[in-house]
Amino acid sequence: MEKTNILKKEDTTIESLLRPSSWQDYVGQEKNKANLKIILEAAKKRHEACDHLLFYGQAGLGKTTLAYLVAKELGTGIKVTSGPALEKMGDLAAVLTNLEKYDVLFIDEAHRLNKMIEEVLYPAMESRKLHLIVGKGPAARMLSLDLPPFTLVAATTRADLLSGPLRSRFGASFKLDYYEIPDIEVIINRSAKLLKLKISPEAVKIVANASRFTPRVANRLLKRVRDYAEVNSLDLIDAKTARQTLDMMDIDELGLEPHDRRLLDIIIKKFHGGPVGVNTLAAALSDEKGNIEDIYEPYLMRLGLLSRTSTGRMVTEAAYNHLGIKPPEATLL
Ligand SMILES: Nc1ncnc2c1ncn2[C@@H]1O[C@H](COP(=O)(O)OP(=O)(O)OP(=O)(O)O)[C@@H](O)[C@H]1O
Ligand SMILES: [Mg+2]
Repeated sequence: MEKTNILKKEDTTIESLLRPSSWQDYVGQEKNKANLKIILEAAKKRHEACDHLLFYGQAGLGKTTLAYLVAKELGTGIKVTSGPALEKMGDLAAVLTNLEKYDVLFIDEAHRLNKMIEEVLYPAMESRKLHLIVGKGPAARMLSLDLPPFTLVAATTRADLLSGPLRSRFGASFKLDYYEIPDIEVIINRSAKLLKLKISPEAVKIVANASRFTPRVANRLLKRVRDYAEVNSLDLIDAKTARQTLDMMDIDELGLEPHDRRLLDIIIKKFHGGPVGVNTLAAALSDEKGNIEDIYEPYLMRLGLLSRTSTGRMVTEAAYNHLGIKPPEATLL
């Protein structure tokens, strides 16, 4: 019990150590950064609250980090909450009435906001009004409170699940995409330096290639490689150490984990390479549709191992090759 607590504590400390706290350290996403900086600069010049901002994209790509950078750049406070934490109207009212002038209100997992909360948010976003219903039945009346100017920053992995009216109330939306490998290498080198690790360029490449183009995964893998080196009293993390750690974690050179390979394998062996609908696939894998859509598929598609068609999911010839299975003649993409 104690041990896990200690580990947990260390992990959260490392997490905050590795989280970039300046634009210079926030690697990649150049276009997003440039556009965002203009919006922030303009708001500062006008001495107004910045427009409401939406960040969306896969888990671990840097949405939360960006939200903190926004508050830092604006020189304002930040209040943090999330879609599932705002269950009742009172929860949102408490958060909103706690805001100070120009604060950033960060709502994570915005796609999990319920309808009732969303409806209270609309006037708050648009005209800085909090409308509350007080009392019940015929005695019920609407109370309207003025809110200070604030900036709502929302993050979500599923922008498609946000309601249209909510989406339209953001002044700007930013899609965070997978990172380029050279950017991931910069992130790994920076993290290695912060963790005081000696790592060879080849080992950095191996970790980067297995990182699913995602900074959080890159850092997580680096931490595991560091554990492996520490346990084996190795001073330098070289290619062999990196590869052995990934092998032990059952992660292949493309960063595929067992569940990714199983997904491809099942489409090939049970469904003749596809097309297969996502619900059927979820049942065959005994996994959740959400995991397939949010976690496995985007990366497999990015690698060109899987494609989505109007009739379902299909593997590509590259998937057969990666798994070492002979593709059938023709019929392939
Ligand atoms: N652009 C970047 N440069 C350097 N490190 C980054 C960058 N983006 C993210 N990271 C690292 O990855 C970690 C995860 O990022 P973050 O928590 O911001 O992701 P997220 O998009 O909010 O993920 P989730 O959807 O799971 O909430 C950070 O702690 C940070 O160390
Ligand atoms: Mg986050």
